[in-house]
Amino acid sequence: MAKPGYTTDAHPRILEGNDLKALAKYMKSDSCRNVFLMLGAGVSTSAGIPDFRSPGTGLYANLARLKLPFPEAVFEIGFFKKNPIPFYTLAKELYPGRFRPTPTHSFITLLHSHSLLHTCFTQNIDTLERRAGVPAQKIVEAHGSFATQRCIECKTPFDAEKIKKAVLSDEIEIPRCEQKRCRGLVKPDIVFFGEGLPDQFHQSIRNLRDADLLIVLGTSLTVHPFASLVDRVPKDCPRVLINLDEVGHFNKPNDMLFLGKCDDVVRELCKELGWEEELGAAWEKTKYSLEAGEEEPEPEPEETVEDEVEKITKDLEQTLNVSDKKDEEGPSAKSKASDLVELGSDEEGKTSPAESPTEGKL
Ligand code: APR
Repeated sequence: MAKPGYTTDAHPRILEGNDLKALAKYMKSDSCRNVFLMLGAGVSTSAGIPDFRSPGTGLYANLARLKLPFPEAVFEIGFFKKNPIPFYTLAKELYPGRFRPTPTHSFITLLHSHSLLHTCFTQNIDTLERRAGVPAQKIVEAHGSFATQRCIECKTPFDAEKIKKAVLSDEIEIPRCEQKRCRGLVKPDIVFFGEGLPDQFHQSIRNLRDADLLIVLGTSLTVHPFASLVDRVPKDCPRVLINLDEVGHFNKPNDMLFLGKCDDVVRELCKELGWEEELGAAWEKTKYSLEAGEEEPEPEPEETVEDEVEKITKDLEQTLNVSDKKDEEGPSAKSKASDLVELGSDEEGKTSPAESPTEGKL
């Protein structure tokens, strides 16, 4: 549970304790008006969407064996331009509409209804924040999302229904720009490694100086510049990490750690806030967030998340074998992949601390 903070004169202790009771008391006080959130893939795992880096179940632990130069290549713009098939195969598994928001997403709507939510910064592309009912103007999708798409060459927007049909069709069709003189590849507005983050992200960062509380949920804090948001709040602003494992550096006097599943910790916090019923009602409503005609996937207990990733793996393998064949006349997917440009990093782009120089992501 929470890690004890320490008090020094320079940093007065704002919270009366290190537990959820103390956090709830602070959230209900007049001192807490502007709550900022930072979300990662761990918030959506209970919806059935694997995260990226959890050992064994994370997407990257399973994509590696699919002939990718490195797991993240599936979201790397240089690789995508040479071989869009792995991304579009994965997109078919992750495409919004089939996943129900989690209780954690519903908690965010309660922060809004209690006039506490300033901004929800999310790295997730699954649009579950919007589907839960969080007002769009309160969400900053730092890594974009599947909500819109365009040609990567001429930037002409592409029709949502057409891309959905192409992605979800049995035989994956790679959508191409409909401008005759262009015919470039179409990609959802997801920020790939090698691409800059949306202007809205850079414009919203300055608001963090008004934060009275920062809650970080379900992220490994490995991808920058998103991860650096934790250092943008006022030095005495309470910062709370809710995560399965300890990440980042939450050792300031007003920092708190709650290690565990987001949904469990959020439910406990709502109990302390007296929002238990509201949370239940808000989450109940999300049942109807599935797209008309979309079947909610059977609720999957944690242990079958591996089956889900296994399924993605099999689909990818089949498709990649197909893609190898399709490349018969041209260089094989392997040689295409090995042409990848060495990834540098630029402060504008999306980066992650390189496990190895080639892993640094833009
Ligand atoms: N409850 C709490 N924490 C969880 C849960 C859960 N149910 N499930 C997973 N986690 C934790 C994991 O232990 C891990 O620390 O969430 C974190 C997820 O980390 P990542 O898989 O690295 O996902 P994320 O931090 O969102 O990745 C950031 O990397 O590849 C890019 O663009 C991609 O936006 C993504 C970025």
